[in-house]
Amino acid sequence: MMMLTKLVSLFSTKNKFASLSSIPLFLSPSLITRLQMESSYTASSHSSSSSSQSSKLLFRQLFEKESSTYTYLLADVSHPDRPALLIDPVDKTVDRDLSVVQDLGLKLIYAMNTHVHADHVTGTGIIKSKVPSVKSVISKASGSKADMLIEPGEKIHFGNLFLEVRATPGHTLGCVTYVTGDGPDQPQPRMAFTGDALLIRGCGRTDFQGGSSEQLYNSVHSKIFTLPKETLIYPAHDYRGFTVSTVGEEKLYNPRLTKDLETYKSIMKNLNLPYPKMIDIAVPANLVCGLQDETPKA
Ligand SMILES: [Fe+2]
Repeated sequence: MMMLTKLVSLFSTKNKFASLSSIPLFLSPSLITRLQMESSYTASSHSSSSSSQSSKLLFRQLFEKESSTYTYLLADVSHPDRPALLIDPVDKTVDRDLSVVQDLGLKLIYAMNTHVHADHVTGTGIIKSKVPSVKSVISKASGSKADMLIEPGEKIHFGNLFLEVRATPGHTLGCVTYVTGDGPDQPQPRMAFTGDALLIRGCGRTDFQGGSSEQLYNSVHSKIFTLPKETLIYPAHDYRGFTVSTVGEEKLYNPRLTKDLETYKSIMKNLNLPYPKMIDIAVPANLVCGLQDETPKA
């Protein structure tokens, strides 16, 4: 039995790339089949949440290449309704996102934004026009229009899972970070959807939309870096191919936010970034959740 346990570990999540060639030759075909079955069970019970572990959470990270935006799909698949939400959907990829929701048999209930984006138009308005029962969600501090204007400390429930709202202003005045719940039935490690407040080895710019480098520094240090070090960081963008980081990793290696406040402010002041090319289109549209052409109904 001990040998079997050891062999199963060959096929475990950590060894998911183990190929048949790595199986000792003395194993019988029936034992190989059994090991493969045990291995696929182990992988599927964890793969639903990528790196985070929960038998309830289904998690997908989706990418929009023009604006390098990540959209996140989360659902409670242990609940009979399979309720789901999308964080930071993009207008251009709404059809893709809705087809994944449909393929996986989910019921989309929320389309949420971390902030009023300046580099792309949110997909929330289009999603609502295609699935009228979906509610749009954004922070009250953003000054934007949405069905639900959330405030720091609120919980957004989907089935038996929830996201906690943390105010992380500084990139924009109304930026929030959504963090998966803290509790025995919630995914572990926790997952933080940081928008543009904290990027992998970077952070959002602070020179537009009510931004403030001092505020962003304080937000990240007080609301994100205080989470357990294994907390997974899922940003709204990445331009270099990174997909996920952790609080511990960013506290050690983020080239900006590991500095003291004065050095950080000086870095942010001297970025010399170009004027965002989409800002004049995206911000007005996103202030009304992407429904800029919406005509008032009588
Ligand atoms: Fe942004």
